[in-house]
Amino acid sequence: MDSNKRPETMERITTPELAQAFIDEQVKLVQEQVKDGKVLLALSGGVDSSVVAALLIKAIGKNLVCVHVNHGFLRKGEPEQVIQVFQKELGANLVYVDAVDRFLDKVAGVSDPEQKRHIIGEEFIKVFDEEAAKLEGIHFLAQGTIYPDILESEKGIKAHHNVGGLPAEMEMELVEPVKLLYKDEVRVVGKQLGLPESMVERQPFPGPGLAVRTPGAITRDRLEAVRESDAILREEFAKAGLAGKVWQYFTIVPDFKTTGIKDGERSFAWPAVIRAVNTRDAMSATIEEIPYDLLKKITERITHEVPGINRVLMDLTPKPTGTIEWE
Ligand code: XMP
Repeated sequence: MDSNKRPETMERITTPELAQAFIDEQVKLVQEQVKDGKVLLALSGGVDSSVVAALLIKAIGKNLVCVHVNHGFLRKGEPEQVIQVFQKELGANLVYVDAVDRFLDKVAGVSDPEQKRHIIGEEFIKVFDEEAAKLEGIHFLAQGTIYPDILESEKGIKAHHNVGGLPAEMEMELVEPVKLLYKDEVRVVGKQLGLPESMVERQPFPGPGLAVRTPGAITRDRLEAVRESDAILREEFAKAGLAGKVWQYFTIVPDFKTTGIKDGERSFAWPAVIRAVNTRDAMSATIEEIPYDLLKKITERITHEVPGINRVLMDLTPKPTGTIEWE
């Protein structure tokens, strides 16, 4: 039987009972596969890798080594949440790598979007490889591959999985416990494993993170302005009940300044741009119609609370002609 093919008889996991049955089965299968071997996992804090981590902690405890690389482009509170949930609450064997300066130095002065993405991707693999090389006796690599990744790589849409590039001498066998699940099922399983709602229901977030929302050459102050304005937007969307309803929403801080007045003085600062879109498959997207009162409140907060911002704009462009991200 092809282990990468979802059996037609497999029931869609929609309830806590079905999730629990899946968890029990996978815990057994993982234990049979790895025995007392050690397993390495790149834990980004995204839905898929988080669910795999929680599942493997249940199956093999400290024999799972999670590596969380903070590249500096994560959203406000994300690295802290990974440490809180996995290290403090679930007792994971977690290696936290603060690579912020390293990544910011690498992209300093680089304004071409593709070059920026390339540098970040390459550096990520380098950092992960270096951490993996420090560990001994690891024979397994866990990945948060899900069923759409397998279907898309079969169709040649995208090569599935992004960890790659491990040192050649580390011959690792793959552990992919959620590879036959769809995203909605991964979420149900994650909830049953006790992961917080904010982690399981998280909106999509690109690998290069806030770097693609800081168009042009990234500076620390502008990156912080993106991070802070994004946090305010998320907080206000959550309060207004939009968090689970809108598919993706974030801010962008472009690399130009305009004149304004802040605290009674002339200010010369960046604008923050709000983008909120709905889509089924991210191939096309429509604009969410945000209530005007909420927009006014978000504008008031961002312009008064975020250093370096004196205006708020709204991106009204569907995809096409815009892509969802700006870079
Ligand atoms: P675009 O900007 O192409 O984005 O309309 C479509 C969806 O993909 C996300 N995205 C990424 N996801 N790695 C990812 O894992 C990436 O490099 C990446 N770039 C874009 C984007 O956030 C949107 O949901």
